[in-house]
Amino acid sequence: MPESRCLQGIWSSPWIFIFAASGSAVGLGNIWRFPYVLGQNGGGAFLLVYCLCLLLVGLPVLMAEVALGRTVRSNPIDTVNDLSERRIVHPAWVFVPWLAGVTGFLILAFYSVIAGWSLAYLQRAISGDFMGISQSGASDMFNALLATPSEMLLWHSMFMLLVVITVGQSVTRGLSAVVRFLLPVLVVSLGLLAIYSVSVGDMPATLQFMFQWAWKDITFDVVLAAVGMALFSLSVGMGAMFAYGAYINKRMSIARACSIVVGVDLLVALLAGLVIFPLVFASQIDVQAGPSLTFVSLPLIFGNLFGGQFFASVFFLLLVVAALTSAISMLELFVAWLHERFYIARLKAAFLMGIVVWFIGIAVLLSFNQWDISIAFGLNFFELLDKVTSLILLPVGAILLSILVAWFIPHSMLQNEMITKNVNHFQWWYKVLKYISIPAMVVITLAGWIGV
Ligand code: PFF
Repeated sequence: MPESRCLQGIWSSPWIFIFAASGSAVGLGNIWRFPYVLGQNGGGAFLLVYCLCLLLVGLPVLMAEVALGRTVRSNPIDTVNDLSERRIVHPAWVFVPWLAGVTGFLILAFYSVIAGWSLAYLQRAISGDFMGISQSGASDMFNALLATPSEMLLWHSMFMLLVVITVGQSVTRGLSAVVRFLLPVLVVSLGLLAIYSVSVGDMPATLQFMFQWAWKDITFDVVLAAVGMALFSLSVGMGAMFAYGAYINKRMSIARACSIVVGVDLLVALLAGLVIFPLVFASQIDVQAGPSLTFVSLPLIFGNLFGGQFFASVFFLLLVVAALTSAISMLELFVAWLHERFYIARLKAAFLMGIVVWFIGIAVLLSFNQWDISIAFGLNFFELLDKVTSLILLPVGAILLSILVAWFIPHSMLQNEMITKNVNHFQWWYKVLKYISIPAMVVITLAGWIGV
């Protein structure tokens, strides 16, 4: 293998991979997006379909990405280059890791802006700005933030700086140091917050909303939302898990590691729901409020509860931490590639990539105020970027990566990577990926495009 493709490090223990991959999976998607998508899609029915999507689409595709990452143990672009030089796959497949990387890159541009809102709200929570706030006061606070590009720019820049500094470290050192400590803190704190919320909020209404469902509630839109959410939440289709797969220990069972990641991801989403909904129902706030659910409802609720200043600070700190460990995985693909291929120091590579994302982020944050004009199809820049990434780039990336693994990588090579002593388990995964996950993603994505 050429020297430029040598691996820079291996996770020191199998658990570090699990922490890092869970850190990537658990993010704004779980704590900010999952509760409002659940709220908009009818609660229990969405949760049921979402769990099925995690199991039948998310997990098999996640395993495929990690396995692919481990085959050559290099960054995704060089991995596919290497496979094509060895005539295992056609050189055209190099397009796929590029597409995945660009998708992660574009998603990071708006992810960072929303993470910036979390930083802004962390600062407000610590200063006690939520105390005694009214419903209109909470909406005004959020609208005022959206209307102030200079403040959004400040927080977006701070968040990107944190991302660049963390990715700039060796991934097996910098990242593992962060997630090893922060992920357990995040899960435990969210659990404590959920206990608090359940004890002061409306528990029966929450349980009914989250866990009861009827057949009639399972519509195509619910399925579409659930598949999209599962892919986004597990960070698949964007090369992040593919890139992390390069660092995974050769002796580790990918099935086991990935199942734990999916479990942690679901657990955090459920905990986030249990933090938000009891308080939402107790205050008779509209569960369908959408993206503002976290940023308008929670300050209102925390601001009027005993100990609210403390709990609000913890909540928004968790949101920032979760966003950071996800954001770093979105830059990893290109940073690893620049470092391994062109010997550019990781920090420098992270900085170069970070600057580009930062600029795109500026266009995103301006779309909420001065640049709120239609760019195409009546959508502003932020809305367009969101639609293009979530409806086109992300599913197409996940489908192509899965097709590459399922149909073009030799069976024996995959079986070696999977390292499962039980051949039946391998066959199960392989068949589910080929005959359930890929067709389901193709049908649902196409149906979504033609607006079924
Ligand atoms: N899985 C992350 C979340 O739920 O917030 C988002 C994400 C991370 C998407 C990394 C894509 C990615 F490459």
